[in-house]
Amino acid sequence: MGGGALVTFAAVDVIRAKRDGQVLSDAQIDWVVDAYTQGVVADEQMAALAMAILLRGMTPGEISRWTAAMIASGERMDLGGVGRPTADKHSTGGVGDKITLPLTPLVAACGAAVPQLSGRGLGHTGGTLDKLESIPGWRASLTGAEFRDQLRDVGAVICAAGADLAPADRKLYALRDVTGTVESIPLIASSIMSKKIAEGTGALVLDVKVGSGAFMKDAVTAGELARTMVDLGTAAGVRTVALLTDMSTPLGLAVGNAVEVAESVEVLAGGGPADVVELTLALAREMLDAAGLTDADPAEVLASGAAMDSWRSMIRAQGGDPSAPLPEARETEVVRAAADGVVRSIDAYGVGVAAWRLGAGRARKEDPVSFGAGVVLRVKPGATVRAGDPLCELRTDEPDRFASARDLVAGAIVVDDGAPPVPSSLLIDRIA
Ligand code: URA
Repeated sequence: MGGGALVTFAAVDVIRAKRDGQVLSDAQIDWVVDAYTQGVVADEQMAALAMAILLRGMTPGEISRWTAAMIASGERMDLGGVGRPTADKHSTGGVGDKITLPLTPLVAACGAAVPQLSGRGLGHTGGTLDKLESIPGWRASLTGAEFRDQLRDVGAVICAAGADLAPADRKLYALRDVTGTVESIPLIASSIMSKKIAEGTGALVLDVKVGSGAFMKDAVTAGELARTMVDLGTAAGVRTVALLTDMSTPLGLAVGNAVEVAESVEVLAGGGPADVVELTLALAREMLDAAGLTDADPAEVLASGAAMDSWRSMIRAQGGDPSAPLPEARETEVVRAAADGVVRSIDAYGVGVAAWRLGAGRARKEDPVSFGAGVVLRVKPGATVRAGDPLCELRTDEPDRFASARDLVAGAIVVDDGAPPVPSSLLIDRIA
């Protein structure tokens, strides 16, 4: 962006221009992003502009400039000194999506360095940091030096993004969250990619979720988001590829915090649900490919126990005790099948909201989460059940939360007496 003094505009003119469907100039974008970060453009003005962007859209050129301006609002990290190729993964978020937990140490055990700057959950999708914080002693905040040292020595870091990473996005995302302006492809793509590019990774694999438990409910919109993000990453010199994956049903069996850590450890131990293993291996292969490490076979590395060793080192390096028992909820209730039949479908959104109501998620960003709370499925779509068989287990510290969660899972888990459903594919598309 040249480094010269920014041209100054009136915020209202920039808002009117986008409201009327005009293409914003580079100078307008640079100014408005910087002025908002500095507090010169007010929240209500940025909210109006975000709504105009949501309604009018942006050209590829505008999206690219907006992303660059958000990166320039903070520090761009240089991971050149870590001594191995870097590769990261970003998921657009889903129910039971614990893949970062087994994937990060697995890819590190295959020879890459994985700098995972993660977030906390809001609403029905969980946050990676909330899950890991259920491990006694584990801490999410690292200094820049600790982050780099751990990346060099262990090869795997999952931690909170520092305040200097795309601060414009931090402020804008919080504003979008309360102004109905999250669901805009230009705003989502620039938000995710500004953080990933600023983080300094050399390769990036995007897991773009499709279905009821995801932001993007259909494959066409998800494909459009994926294409926009892949183009932004590639133009910034990051080898970027996206997988479109199914999020109509929860991933694995566990939805919550400690229960998802336990399921991830099962995967690292060579077991775990087939869908979690399949997606972990598919994403690992893409990350290693993008990082130029084509010799390692992640399935072999997983089976050898090396990924588990890497997990234990990663948890210990951040103060956690990988052998400590995980927190358990005080109360458990089993939900059972009302009649004989076949499990037709399990709706990801319904199960995600149930886990959230049980205390696994937060309604406001300052709320605490309950580490032991959540839903543990006992069946997957296609299972045959008899009346009275367990469908899932609800876990909470506060039994008055059972009632609404029970209603939600009763609506989400559909059992009928028709033919078994046709198994759907987890991997929907690949965009490079
Ligand atoms: N995740 C982000 O980081 N930003 C968005 O806009 C949406 C999801």
